[in-house]
Amino acid sequence: MGRRDLVLLTDHSSTEGTRDAMATAARRLTGREPVLVDARHFMTDGTDGSRDATGRIDAVGEGTVRLEAEGRVVTTDTVVVYEIPPHRRPAFAHCQRQLRAAGVRSLGTDVEAWRAATEKDRTVERFTRDGVPHMPTITLSRPGPEAATQAFERLGGDVWARPCVGMGGDDVFHVTTHAQLAAAARHYADIGADWLIAQDARNFTADGRRHQYRVVVLGGRVVRATEHVQADPDAPCNECRGAVSTLLETDEIPPGIPELAIQATKSLGLPLAGVDLAAESGGVVFEVNVHPAFGTRGVEQIALPYVAAHLQS
Ligand SMILES: Nc1ncnc2c1ncn2[C@@H]1O[C@H](COP(=O)(O)OP(=O)(O)O)[C@@H](O)[C@H]1O
Ligand SMILES: [Mg+2]
Repeated sequence: MGRRDLVLLTDHSSTEGTRDAMATAARRLTGREPVLVDARHFMTDGTDGSRDATGRIDAVGEGTVRLEAEGRVVTTDTVVVYEIPPHRRPAFAHCQRQLRAAGVRSLGTDVEAWRAATEKDRTVERFTRDGVPHMPTITLSRPGPEAATQAFERLGGDVWARPCVGMGGDDVFHVTTHAQLAAAARHYADIGADWLIAQDARNFTADGRRHQYRVVVLGGRVVRATEHVQADPDAPCNECRGAVSTLLETDEIPPGIPELAIQATKSLGLPLAGVDLAAESGGVVFEVNVHPAFGTRGVEQIALPYVAAHLQS
């Protein structure tokens, strides 16, 4: 194997910070600096590449590509993809297909798996197909007031509304009244989003706070688990919404939770994923994140094994 550069392909407008952790992992594993490339150069207007990206990808044989952007050129056989925001993924699909067709070593080129995780209506369809436990859900695409009300009542009048594509608990509402439902409907109409409502999972601690787990799965194995506790029972249990996250040791994860997270990841076909799930209501999965953010010990638990999986493949 030649000393080709390892490329770290991420959206440089993202401020999440996992890029640095991935770069650290690459440096430790290869003993060299990875080449940081901005994925935005390889995004197109349509998923088919109908309007060209500013960057260029050329297959040069033997699983190797030549990437060119802003006058810089790098030749590589290993591309670690991370930190591509959900809304930008359709624009990135053409690049993923090119990398895959060239036979580059990458765990981030499965367009279908990404789509199944990113579009939550598709996630629910997969879960239903594969028997992955989740709360009863109805998808709403610009519904009239009647349709929204009907769905709300069918689910029992205590639901969570989420946009089909989103992250960080943005535009997520706990809805228990018709007025709240109408406000949510207006909000999604304003931002032009399709949305879902799902029955409340009743994921409360004994003292009435919300809690749930974030389990990161790599290659069918749990590499990290945290518990999130949210004091506001009407707020999403996301860290950026004020939930407190605690890292769990393996023996502190409740029984059944690792299996459920692994099942959800398999259903979508993702090699790496961060699964949001609750133990209540029999154990239910809320969503599967393609590029889970991580904090303390994230380099050891996620970045190192993830980059290493590229180098072994
Ligand atoms: N049915 C539900 N019951 C209870 N909480 C829910 C439900 N659906 C969503 N939530 C809360 O909202 C959060 C955000 O929803 P999620 O699907 O994870 O989207 P995001 O991509 O914004 O994190 C969930 O992690 C959970 O805390
Ligand atoms: Mg989430």
